[in-house]
Amino acid sequence: MLSIIYLIGSVTFIIGLKMLSHPATARKGNLIAAGGMTLAILGTIFLYENNGEHLHNYGWIFAGLLAGGTIGVLAAKKVKMTAMPEMVSLFNGMGGACAALISVVEFNHMITTPSAGIATAVLPRLSELPGMEHASLGGRLLIILLGLIIGSVSFAGSMIAWGKLNGRIKDFAFKGQHIVNLAILAVSLLAALYLVATIDRQVGVELTIGRSGGLAIRVAGIVKFLFYLILLLSIIYGILFVMPIGGADMPVVISLLNSFTGVAAACGGFLYNNQVMLTGGILVGSAGTILTILMCRAMNRSLKNVLIGSFGGAKAGSAKEQGQYKSIALADAAVVLAYAQKVVIVPGYGLAVAQAQHACHELEKLLEDKGVTVIYAIHPVAGRMPGHMNVLLAEADVPYEKLLEMEQANEALPTTDAVLVLGANDVVNPAAKTDPDSPIYGMPILEVEKARMVIVNKRSMKPGYAGIENDLFFQPKTSMLFGDAKQVLQQLIAEVKQV
Ligand code: TAP
Repeated sequence: MLSIIYLIGSVTFIIGLKMLSHPATARKGNLIAAGGMTLAILGTIFLYENNGEHLHNYGWIFAGLLAGGTIGVLAAKKVKMTAMPEMVSLFNGMGGACAALISVVEFNHMITTPSAGIATAVLPRLSELPGMEHASLGGRLLIILLGLIIGSVSFAGSMIAWGKLNGRIKDFAFKGQHIVNLAILAVSLLAALYLVATIDRQVGVELTIGRSGGLAIRVAGIVKFLFYLILLLSIIYGILFVMPIGGADMPVVISLLNSFTGVAAACGGFLYNNQVMLTGGILVGSAGTILTILMCRAMNRSLKNVLIGSFGGAKAGSAKEQGQYKSIALADAAVVLAYAQKVVIVPGYGLAVAQAQHACHELEKLLEDKGVTVIYAIHPVAGRMPGHMNVLLAEADVPYEKLLEMEQANEALPTTDAVLVLGANDVVNPAAKTDPDSPIYGMPILEVEKARMVIVNKRSMKPGYAGIENDLFFQPKTSMLFGDAKQVLQQLIAEVKQV
C-alpha cells in the first residue's frame, strides 16, 4: 500500500513539474504536486513500518506539521511578488537544514550504544563477528555525510542569500577568499573520506546482556569529533561561498542552492529507502540545475562567472551619463500610442517594483479598444526571477496569448510603430550586441531599436541590474518618459482617454 502511495506521489511530482512550465497550467500543477506530497506524508505517518513497529510519536509529528504548515501558508499569503526570491531562499534553507539534521540523527542512531546492559565481551571489529564478515558501515556513512555536507552548505548559503536580498547582509569579500573556501571544502571532504574508509576499523562491537541486551556498537571518539567538524566546516563554507557574490546575482545562486537541497533530500531517500523522497529530491536537484544553466545562458554568463565574477552589485550606480537624451510629455506619448497600429510593451523589473501590472493591462485594453494591436515582449531574464514577468502579468489577467517570447517578439519589432519600455533596462541594452567590452556582451536582447519609435519609462537615468549605461536611451528614436511606472501609466490612461 505504502509503495503504491509513494508511486502516486512520485508521478504527481513529475506531472506537477511539467505543468509548471506553462502559466496556464502552473497553478494546477502546483496543487497536483502538493496533493501528492500530502498523500506521501500521511502514508508515511500512518503506514510506515520498520521491523513491525509503526511511528508512534504522533503528538510531536502533528504539532510540527501544524506549526510548519501555518508559518508556510501565512508567509506565502503575505509575501510581495518582488520578495519572492527571498522567500524561496528562506524555505530552501529550511530544506537544507532538514537534510543535514536527518544526517545528524541517523549518524547518532548508527553509533549509539544502548545504555542498559553490561558489556561482557568487546570485539575489536564488527566484521570479526560470525556472520558479519561482509558487514560495512561505510556505505551508510557515505550517504549520511553527503546529506550532511550538501544540506548544511545549502542551509548556510541560503540564509546568507536571504539576508542579502532583504538588505540585512552586505557583500563581503577578502583577498584570497576563494582559496580559503576551497581549502575549507577540501578539509571537510578529506575528513569525510577518511571516516568512510576507516569506519569499520573505528567501530567495535559490544555484546551486552540485560534488559536491552544484544549487540551494540562502540565508536572511537575521533569519529564523533570528525563528524561534527565536518558539519561546522560545511556551514562555514556555505557562508563564505555566498558572501562575496553580488547581491543581484542571488537568484542564480538560490537556484543552485535549491538543486543542492534536492540532492541532500535524495540522500535522505537512500537512507530511509524511501522512494518518494528519492524521486522528489532528484527532481528538485535536476530541475534546479537546469534552471541555473538556463538563467546563466539567458544572461550569456558562465556559472563560474556568476560565482566568482562579482557582477552587478559593486558596479551598480557607477555609470556616467553620456550624450543627450530627450524626454517626451505624457500627452505626446498618449498620442503616439493611440495613433499607432501596433504597440509592443516591454515589461521589466521596474514594472514589478512599481506594482503597475494592473494599470499596464488597463492601458493595453484601452489601446485595443481604439483599434491598436498591443502585444508584450517577454525577455527570459526580465525581472529578478524566472518567469517573473509572466507571473506579474498573469496577476493582472493579461491573456497568455498576448505574451511573445523573445525570438517571436524580435521578429515582430521591425513592423512595430511604438515600443513602450516599462521599467526594463538591461534586457533592451544594444551594448549586448555591439560592445565586446560590455559585461552583458553576447546576452540575447529584445531589439526594440528596430521599431519606429521607442518610449522608455523609468524614474531616472540610473543603470539597471548590470550597472551599465544603456545607449538605447540616447538614440534619436528614443524618448524618455520619467516617473514611477504606476503613476505614469495611470496618467497615460487618462491622457489616452482624451485622444
Ligand atoms: P533592470 O536592468 O534591472 O532595470 C530595471 C529598471 O527599472 C531600472 O533601470 C530602474 O531605473 C527601473 N525602475 C525601478 N523602479 C521603477 C519604478 N518604480 N518605476 C519605473 N521604473 C523603475 O531590469 P530588466 O531590464 O528587467 O533586466 C533584468 C536584469 O536582471 C538582467 O540584467 C538580468 O540578467 C538580471 N537577472 C534576472 C534574473 C531572472 S531569472 N529574471 C536573475 C538574475 C539576474 P530607475 O532606477 O531609473 O527607475
